[in-house]
Amino acid sequence: AEVLVLNGPNLGRLGSREPDVYGAATFDDLAGLCRDTARRLGLHAEVRQTDDEAELIGWLHEAADGHIPVVLNPAAFTHYSYAVRDAIAQRTAPLIEVHISNPAAREEFRHTSVVAGVASGTIAGFGTFSYVLALQAVAELLAESAS
Ligand code: DQA
Repeated sequence: AEVLVLNGPNLGRLGSREPDVYGAATFDDLAGLCRDTARRLGLHAEVRQTDDEAELIGWLHEAADGHIPVVLNPAAFTHYSYAVRDAIAQRTAPLIEVHISNPAAREEFRHTSVVAGVASGTIAGFGTFSYVLALQAVAELLAESAS
């Protein structure tokens, strides 16, 4: 099965972006990790990143129309984008919200996620391993719904 791994603004700069917070892995490293993990789980991951809210919303519509499961790191959109939330609300397949850092342990404005309430669940704080856990969750939810 296909899974979309969607990443929001500034995540293309992983590796050079605040490495003390987000680690040394580059976005290409992360994309490779997701593709390898998905393969191991019998899934096929397509990994994308955009700094553009409209583009991200278009991808979420594509997932809704195609009934495609999603692993989503909405980055800063997490904290204020009702448009991203409304796009996620249209989904019919699992969608896991992921974060590399643990937003709950950071600045006050990161303590609110406007998307968490319409996600299947949220995984945060495990570095890029958050994506591994999220893909495992997708595989688990797909297996559950098939049985
Ligand atoms: C992030 C956390 C957000 O607060 C932040 O705006 C990001 C990355 C994370 O993966 O830890 O850009 O989503």
